[in-house]
Amino acid sequence: MDLRRDLALGARLAVMRTGGLAMALAGDPVLRLLYRPWIDDPTRIQRQLREAAQPYASRSGVLVVATAAMCREVVRDRRFLVRPRNGGSLGGALEGRRDPLLEPVELSFLGMDPPEHTRLRRLVGGWFTPARVRSYEPLVAGLAERLADEAVARGRFDLVADVATPLPAAVIAEILGVPESDAGAFARWGQAVGGGLGGVRSLRALHRLDRAVAELRALLGGLLDRRRRDPADDLLSHLAREEVDADEAVSLAAFLLLAGFETTSTLLGNAVAAMTDAREPWARLAADPGRAGDAVEESLRFEAPIQFTARTPHETVRLGDRDIEPDTVVMAMLGAAGRDPAVHTDPDVFDLDRPTKGEHLAFSGGIHFCLGAPLARLEARVALAALAERMPTLHREPGAARRRSLLLRSYTTLPVGV
Ligand code: HEM
Repeated sequence: MDLRRDLALGARLAVMRTGGLAMALAGDPVLRLLYRPWIDDPTRIQRQLREAAQPYASRSGVLVVATAAMCREVVRDRRFLVRPRNGGSLGGALEGRRDPLLEPVELSFLGMDPPEHTRLRRLVGGWFTPARVRSYEPLVAGLAERLADEAVARGRFDLVADVATPLPAAVIAEILGVPESDAGAFARWGQAVGGGLGGVRSLRALHRLDRAVAELRALLGGLLDRRRRDPADDLLSHLAREEVDADEAVSLAAFLLLAGFETTSTLLGNAVAAMTDAREPWARLAADPGRAGDAVEESLRFEAPIQFTARTPHETVRLGDRDIEPDTVVMAMLGAAGRDPAVHTDPDVFDLDRPTKGEHLAFSGGIHFCLGAPLARLEARVALAALAERMPTLHREPGAARRRSLLLRSYTTLPVGV
């Protein structure tokens, strides 16, 4: 790590921190979503953003849309892209490169526009189709039931560390073909890298992240080499066979871990917290674990794991009553869209019988619609059913903590008792 880079980044971090807080204190709703006390209850701010004229101009320089209709329009309209005109990244403040503070991890094809996006998405798409995902059900069920059995035997446990984290980590490791002997390290690095999604807040965190990325890449690079010589029926062998550039293959594999791990773990934590807080939904799920699919959809709407995404146009685009200039960053608040009363009656109530089931943007839309949605839905449904069957009186214990992130709305720890 070079000292000049560190000094420059450290100075920028300090400016970002104080500047962001000052704008939050001055009333900027988007920046408030980053700080206490506002972060503890984002629903008020989400409402404020939805009720403002759309798009809303934040003092941070980005435009924000927060109604379901506008968010849908932005993610579906092909004139909105994920890279600015100079090919840099949106978080890179249009400087033509990735910003290590705002986008510390590579997002592979999620951060690319066609035609590269199309090529890479096609390359791995076959591994995540609904039919293929159905074939993973026995694997997912076996893992979820074992984790739930172990948790119930303990009586008190951390839902995040003991169930929500190991399940998606093991599933994506199995799909990629990471051997069990490396699975622990793989999950640890995946978690460290996932924690960096949405930006870092200190140089120490950035160094930790750089190290985790390097170690994860070394592990995946080694495995890919092995698969080239000795292929198996897994996704790493597929990448080795397709003769994808070695660097690109490692980036893709690391990205799949990142995309599928922390997000699904977040969904499970949020779902259990919301349902046990409201009590009635959890009791109903325990009485009929067949409702787990409905519980998953309602959780995705109620508290979207990924709270926003961003796009930018390369030409002037009319949105609402505004002309959006090229390279202007537009944030689509997917989490706020899930609480839009124009779509969902009593949006702040967790309702298993909601007639608008599935009408959320938690998996985004358009060409970047979450490739792993069928897998995430399967994992969450099977895990919630396994937990509810065994733990009808599951409840929170003190000590829950949330990640301080605008992007991922998640618990870092969620102590519960059976
Ligand atoms: C509850 C869990 C999950 C949530 C909430 C979620 C959410 C999202 C969202 C919002 C996007 C699009 C972002 C945008 O439009 O800019 C996305 C893209 C993506 N997700 Fe997921 N995801 C989840 C699980 C998974 C899983 C299990 C995988 C599988 C490995 C996965 C793989 C991907 C990939 C590959 C993309 C990029 C798609 C593209 O750019 O074409 N996700 N996800």
